[in-house]
This record gives sequence, C-alpha cells and structure tokens, in this order.
Amino acid sequence: MTDVIAPIAAGVSLMSHHLKPPASAADWAAVDRMQRQSLRTRTGSAYPVEARHADPARQVLLLWYRGERVGTLRMDRLDDSTVAFRRVCVDASKRGAGHGAVLIQLAEALASADGADVVLLHAVAGSEGFYQKLGFHPVVWSEPSEHPTSVNLGKRLSPVAAVSQCLEYRRIHG
Ligand SMILES: CC(C)(COP(=O)(O)OP(=O)(O)OC[C@H]1O[C@@H](n2cnc3c(N)ncnc32)[C@H](O)[C@@H]1OP(=O)(O)O)[C@@H](O)C(=O)NCCC(=O)NCCS
Repeated sequence: MTDVIAPIAAGVSLMSHHLKPPASAADWAAVDRMQRQSLRTRTGSAYPVEARHADPARQVLLLWYRGERVGTLRMDRLDDSTVAFRRVCVDASKRGAGHGAVLIQLAEALASADGADVVLLHAVAGSEGFYQKLGFHPVVWSEPSEHPTSVNLGKRLSPVAAVSQCLEYRRIHG
C-alpha cells in the first residue's frame, strides 16, 4: 500500500492527485482565488488571505490533479491527537468530479501520518451531506463557529481506514 499512497514531509499523493503545501506565488494565488470564490465570513466578506510563512500548526494545502490546481484546505493542529480542517474548497469550475472527496481523504491520510486520530470541522450550511458521505458525524465542539448555521462534524481516523477509503474511492470512481 505504501507504493499507492505515500505520506511525505511535504505532502501526500494518490495516483494523479497530490496534496502539498503551496510552494510558489502562483500556488498562493490559486489558494486565494479558490477561497475568495467559495467562502464568505458571516458578514459576507472574503476571509483574510492565508499567512505565507510555514507554520506546522496551520498548514495550508493545495490539491493538484494532472498538473492543475483543483482544491485547497487548511489543517490546523488543535492538540496532540486532533486536527481541524478549515477553508475546504474545490475550484468552482471543477466541482462534482470527485476532487473534494480526494481532498478530504488525502488530508486525513496526512493528518493520520502526522499522529492525529480525530478531525473536527465546522460544516457550512449545505455542505454537511458532502462530509457525511465521507464518514463525518455531528459532534459537540466548544470552538465557536464563524457561521451561526454551520454544523460541527467530526471523524475518528485510522491509518488503515484512510488508505482503504482512498483505494475504495478509486475503485468506484477511477
Ligand atoms: C463542498 C465541496 C468541497 C465539494 O467538492 P466536490 O469536488 O464538488 O465534491 P465531490 O465531487 O468530491 O463529491 C463527493 C460526493 O459528495 C457529494 N456532494 C458534494 N457536495 C455535496 C453537498 N453540498 N451536499 C451533499 N452531497 C454532496 C457528491 O455528490 C459526491 O457523492 P457520490 O460519491 O455519491 O458521487 C465543494 O462543493 C466546494 O468547494 N463548495 C464551496 C465551499 C464549501 O462549501 N466548502 C465547505 C466549507 S465547510
């Protein structure tokens, strides 16, 4: 299995998808563009752009598919065992093609390889179904959400499950 999915310090790959930190001005521009087109604060404005410096507690990640930048999320370390996925988005022109599911599954593999076993997130209204298909469930989480209508979701990770979910996904959609 390690030749199919290979967590490395800079990211994680599965066949034609690669999830890794932005490494150039063009990468950061793609992150900014996808966040601007997809995400709004409670007051309707765009989120502040991500800090450009490397921070192990707040890892911005960019999903590539066959040479194109197709999605992004940020993985925040909350404690030794828990990460939060934030600012999850797929390029508006590339939705509905399975990239979002791979984005989450590769981020889970990366989190798991980094020692985390729980993922938490605030799912904005309308996105819960997407996460529930990927095994997330409603949870109690004390962190306040930006959006009053968002739902707190969580998932317990296992390294084997993260890999087999990717393989299963490929089997169905590949
Ligand atoms: C939510 C988002 C990341 C999904 O990305 P995507 O690439 O379109 O999703 P996928 O194509 O991988 O979908 C995977 C599965 O989830 C389903 N799905 C996707 N979006 C869904 C939604 N909003 N509600 C219910 N199911 C959804 C798909 O139908 C697919 O199901 P299938 O496996 O049975 O075919 C994308 O729509 C997006 O960027 N939205 C705007 C930003 C946003 O809302 N982010 C979430 C912040 S918490």
